[in-house]
Amino acid sequence: MAACAVFLAVAVAGGVVTALPATAAAPTVNATAKTAATTKIPTTVNPLPSVDAIGDPANFSVLVNKSRPLNPASYAPSDLVNARGSGQYMRAEAAAWLNGLFQGAADAGTGGLSIVSGYRSYATQSQVYWGYVNAYGQAYADTISARPGYSEHQTGLAMDIGNAAGSCGLSTCFGDTVAGKWVAANAHKYGFIVRYPNGYTGTTGYSYEPWHLRYVGVALATDMNRRGFPTMEHYFAGNTAAGASIKSGADLVAADSSGRLLRYPATAAGGYAGAVQIGSGWTGLKQAFVVDWDIDGVYDLLAQWNNGVLGVYRGLPGGGFANQVVVGNGGWERMTITVGKWTHAHGRPGVVGYFPDGVLRYYPNTFGGALSAPQIIGKGWNGMELTIADWEGDGANDILARTGSGALINYRGDGWAGFYGPATTVGTGWQYMRVLAPSFGLTGAGTRGITAQTADGNLYNYGLGRSQWTTYRQVGSGWNGLKLFK
Ligand code: DAL
Ligand code: ZN
Repeated sequence: MAACAVFLAVAVAGGVVTALPATAAAPTVNATAKTAATTKIPTTVNPLPSVDAIGDPANFSVLVNKSRPLNPASYAPSDLVNARGSGQYMRAEAAAWLNGLFQGAADAGTGGLSIVSGYRSYATQSQVYWGYVNAYGQAYADTISARPGYSEHQTGLAMDIGNAAGSCGLSTCFGDTVAGKWVAANAHKYGFIVRYPNGYTGTTGYSYEPWHLRYVGVALATDMNRRGFPTMEHYFAGNTAAGASIKSGADLVAADSSGRLLRYPATAAGGYAGAVQIGSGWTGLKQAFVVDWDIDGVYDLLAQWNNGVLGVYRGLPGGGFANQVVVGNGGWERMTITVGKWTHAHGRPGVVGYFPDGVLRYYPNTFGGALSAPQIIGKGWNGMELTIADWEGDGANDILARTGSGALINYRGDGWAGFYGPATTVGTGWQYMRVLAPSFGLTGAGTRGITAQTADGNLYNYGLGRSQWTTYRQVGSGWNGLKLFK
């Protein structure tokens, strides 16, 4: 794939992203009386955790736990600041967001918060840990304290907090206070998570600590909340897919003209490494999709063949794919489809699409195998290219429809297979984009975006914020002749 070996990371002219009023000629959608969804998406649905767990202790997303010590063990952050003048230290960005959290808690009438314990060096953590061991014995100490070199406090990203009155400092009763409940419900808005939630000792190895906040950044904290991941271990359950052929929602998958199936691994720098061949015989595709069809934590492939068959290739945890399971038969080559979770009522991602009649249908994937009978959800969609994505970042997927004239229109999903609110134009000039592939985690844990392949073979990644585009950069060239999977 020498032609594809060039990957740039510079801003260039291309599809323009703007926010314009919806056009009058927009297709109609079936009206719904339902309100926007508030239900969280269960942990196992697509998109999957997008990146391998991060080991760099200076990264805000670093995963530190009993089996993942800081590396190096002597790590000390270089940007510690005195958090709120308390005499407890935290890294500067985390401390700034902690201010917002404290302000938010006070404004909400919770009575306010107090600071208990922030940064602890390796040596300090050693004193803390061995103090507990002497007091309670090692087995119990290991449930309440990290060993030196294994504590999030050493990253400068953790802060133990209490209620302002201090009556529940380092006590589980903090979780029952008005302030503690507010923190559990709102910390993600400020980039924090309650790192050791109740009921997950089996995962984290630690007792419930409603007071231990970990800064991970707003993108990751919000993504975890939106998708219902209770712990970082759940979020980075990348182990499930470590041996799989497709390891990450940030990877690109494509087929070349000789039918080779190629994976382009996402890199930590936010680009793509060179192709790895993961299959062969992939000629005759109309389109294909990367999706966790059976929600087992390993990405599968959905192939829309030119012969009218819609088939699923289950990704195997150890690598490779199972033989095709036909999930739709006859006429699928005439459909324009997109694939993704379209209702909270169904845990699995389904298919939304239309025949040339322009009637938009949702085909539920009820069992992780063949599709169920469709329900009609709109009409007049002829000529639209469809991409399921969560434009608002509210946990309910939407349909981004590209018109023949290159407008990109967001049809907001209500989370229950219907639409909600007015359609809005979120981009123009997209007629040069041939394929829009949702991507997850390309520019860091929790980030989302759309990777677009242009007609002249360039790739651009558009970062997706909450109802807005964020970053915009070229991430590849020489993709002419490659069929990029969506
Ligand atoms: N109490 C937490 C687990 C720590 O010592 O880092
Ligand atoms: Zn702590």
